[in-house]
Amino acid sequence: MTERARLSARIAAIAESATLKVDAKAKALQAEGRPVISYAAGEPDFATPEHIVEAALAATRDPKNYRYTPAAGLPELREAIAAKTARDSGLEASASQVVVTNGGKQAVYQAFQVLLDPGDEVLVPAPYWTTYPEAIKLAGGTQVDVFAGSDQGYLVTVEQLEAARTERTKVLLFVSPSNPTGAVYPPEQVKAIGEWALEHGIWVVADEIYQNLTYGALDSGVGSAAPRAVSIVEAVPGLADQTILVNGVAKTYAMTGWRLGWMVGPADVIKGAANLQSHLSSNVSNISQRAAIAALAGPQEPVEAMRQAFDRRRRLIVDELSKIDGMIVPVPEGAFYVYPDVTGLLGREWGGVTPTTSLELADLVLEQAEVAAVPGEAFGPSGFLRFSYALGDEPLLEGVQRLQRLFG
Ligand SMILES: Cc1ncc(COP(=O)(O)O)c(C=O)c1O
Repeated sequence: MTERARLSARIAAIAESATLKVDAKAKALQAEGRPVISYAAGEPDFATPEHIVEAALAATRDPKNYRYTPAAGLPELREAIAAKTARDSGLEASASQVVVTNGGKQAVYQAFQVLLDPGDEVLVPAPYWTTYPEAIKLAGGTQVDVFAGSDQGYLVTVEQLEAARTERTKVLLFVSPSNPTGAVYPPEQVKAIGEWALEHGIWVVADEIYQNLTYGALDSGVGSAAPRAVSIVEAVPGLADQTILVNGVAKTYAMTGWRLGWMVGPADVIKGAANLQSHLSSNVSNISQRAAIAALAGPQEPVEAMRQAFDRRRRLIVDELSKIDGMIVPVPEGAFYVYPDVTGLLGREWGGVTPTTSLELADLVLEQAEVAAVPGEAFGPSGFLRFSYALGDEPLLEGVQRLQRLFG
């Protein structure tokens, strides 16, 4: 008998989510009784707003929600998503151009499954969210990194994209606001990148899951009105026929556990994604879909209250991290992450240890300061730490003070 590998090569090549791994390690230490403060999780710490929870409770009592529904989602929710897309992304799409997915993560996966053939290249601005490489790989695509460091505010330029473009380039991944950097592309740069993609017939997968979490300049007041994260299809309407928008309720409405996202795109691509989903997971839980209708069509004041709280915490963590000699802290304008460049801390001795990579630095910080942050290696190049500021003001400050003492 020929010897066969137990796992397929495809699955053996996938790594566990690095962010979830750090979070799990922090939680395990907490369970041992160690007072670890974790900046690792990528989720709001707020409760889901009450009116959304009420809608879900009512949905559990309504027998019409007990059955399978169309794989692409409830018609009412697809309508609400189309309206939200027009409002926030400036794209007039019909409900038939929407597929409701099990979180934005499934939308990312399906977008690449629908677009990529083996060997197709995807330009991925780095640092990037840890799931993209695996989703691209699983679709047979080849990832081509385009790195933008802290010196350019983590924003790639058209010149860099053009230098990375080949005949095999099929897709550009565009994420603004970004996880892990919190960077938001200014409108003129969005337009320039969109025009470049249009000119070269390059598809865009635009992940807009943080689009409602943007903040004003530091010299404006806490919670001040923020510049919008302009959608690439709003900046360049001609791109609509070659763009898939990915989004979801998780981050904006504190609904990570409800598992509800979506993709919006041209009819043929959306049909392909709905066909795939009909064999993969069918419809998303109707209870979550009803809750999402309440989220998108209901009052938005709770979102504004959370945005203001994030803004306050953002200012606090940026101020405090900036006091650490050796950290460069670009001011994030969106999402709920700050992504300091920590190369200035590497190669130096701290408490008897000399870290040379951000992975080693993250281990050191966890061991010696009982602070969990995700190392840059989870998002591409070494030399960075990601701190989520989606945690209460008190632990937020306490954790950074521990770092100030360690690196003082
Ligand atoms: C950039 C980005 N896109 C998509 C997602 C997916 O979110 P979810 O699957 O919870 O909707 C996340 C979650 O961390 C994210 O950070």
